[in-house]
Amino acid sequence: PIKRMWGGRFEESGSDLVNKFGASITFDQEMAQEDIQGSLAHVKMLKATKILDAADADAIIKGLETLDEKLKQGKLSFNIENEDIHMNIEALLTAEIGPVAGKLHTGRSRNDQVATDLHLYVKERLPQVIAAIKKLQQVLVDKASDNVETIMPGYTHMQHAQPISYGHYLMAYFQMLQRDAERFKFNMQHTDVSPLGAAALAGTTFPIDRQLSAKYLGFSDIYHNSLDAVSDRDFVLEFLSNASILMMHLSRMCEELIYWCSYEFGYIELSDAYSTGSSIMPQKKNPDTAELIRGKTGRVYGDLMGLLTTMKGLPLAYNKDMQEDKEGVFDAVKTIIPSLKIMAGMVETLKVNQDKMEHAVHNDFSNATELADYLASKGIPFRQAHEIVGELVLKGLKTGKNLSDISLAEYQKISPLITEDVYHVLQPKVAVERRNSAGGTGFAQVEAQIKAAKELLKD
Ligand code: ARG
Repeated sequence: PIKRMWGGRFEESGSDLVNKFGASITFDQEMAQEDIQGSLAHVKMLKATKILDAADADAIIKGLETLDEKLKQGKLSFNIENEDIHMNIEALLTAEIGPVAGKLHTGRSRNDQVATDLHLYVKERLPQVIAAIKKLQQVLVDKASDNVETIMPGYTHMQHAQPISYGHYLMAYFQMLQRDAERFKFNMQHTDVSPLGAAALAGTTFPIDRQLSAKYLGFSDIYHNSLDAVSDRDFVLEFLSNASILMMHLSRMCEELIYWCSYEFGYIELSDAYSTGSSIMPQKKNPDTAELIRGKTGRVYGDLMGLLTTMKGLPLAYNKDMQEDKEGVFDAVKTIIPSLKIMAGMVETLKVNQDKMEHAVHNDFSNATELADYLASKGIPFRQAHEIVGELVLKGLKTGKNLSDISLAEYQKISPLITEDVYHVLQPKVAVERRNSAGGTGFAQVEAQIKAAKELLKD
């Protein structure tokens, strides 16, 4: 039977199946770097507080530094017998420096170690996620700048609603991403906190200095309750819910890219680099990449739901269930960062078919609100104006006439207040330009939005 680090009180060892089932090394080796850093901070603190004498502490520090070097060179190998990354690193340290390695675990537990590692892992990735969001925002702003006056139908219920600026559309996603970035930034407050020194659950009798080990690790604060420190996975849940909301945004944008590049819409063309062909139909160019981002949204939701469900009903403090906290967050990180980067490239390289977009609002009734507003501005109560225009639309649908095809004489039968300028107002571009209320699609508003966005991107 294998010798376990906690094996003292055991007479029998578990089956290979049970041991393999309980081990987390296959996935938590992802945090090897964090684990070594956590141990280094802990032993330096033990030295500073004289809990360990300098010679022992220095031997451990040197050993850990050697392991860190070997890890970077890809020379560390882990084994399943040592269960998880924490015990693997300790076993490797023992192999490196001998039994003095056993002093490292003074005043700590794997429970605060795993929490520390995970905090470090998320803390390091948050800025990477935020940077990837910003990159996509930059692409959206640039694309929007080029398309302030590109006119397209705005939709509600997937029906033509009112003409809008394509730049305005793009900036809507900029705004969503801005909130995503803010959420991840806020997530940092709950991540940048050290659980180290909570030990198993109740603190320790050793005179440790938790502020000092936190400082060595670059944490801004420490948990103020040891039970909470080892039981809290809120910061991971926040990360996963932020990631889920982010993916939902990307997925919505992908959905539009997908049908906008269909034959029926033809508003955009995706670059070949983000499309694939068919093994049977030679003519096909499929928006696979956008579909895959849309699809991967499901797995990130799964990561969130998995951990929420795992945590539900767990009594304080550590329970082995919590070993299930890691794979989801690793998966989410590995999904959202590439999704953001690919999305940025896809949007940057897509070709806008401005004629197709604009054509779509020249043969429809998306200027009906303009006419109603026009009548209202001439003193007809809006409700009545709405009714009048509704009847004109019904008639137009039957006779194949758009609102701008109706003659002035006919208009004047409705109200003598209608004059030649109605045709100007009915032009889609004019309709867009005139929607100048704050945050509207009017060109001046879109320009202002872009300007403010560029400022936001500076910090
Ligand atoms: N491998 C465990 C995990 O990933 C950490 C160790 C704590 N385990 C324990 N039985 N006290 O959560």
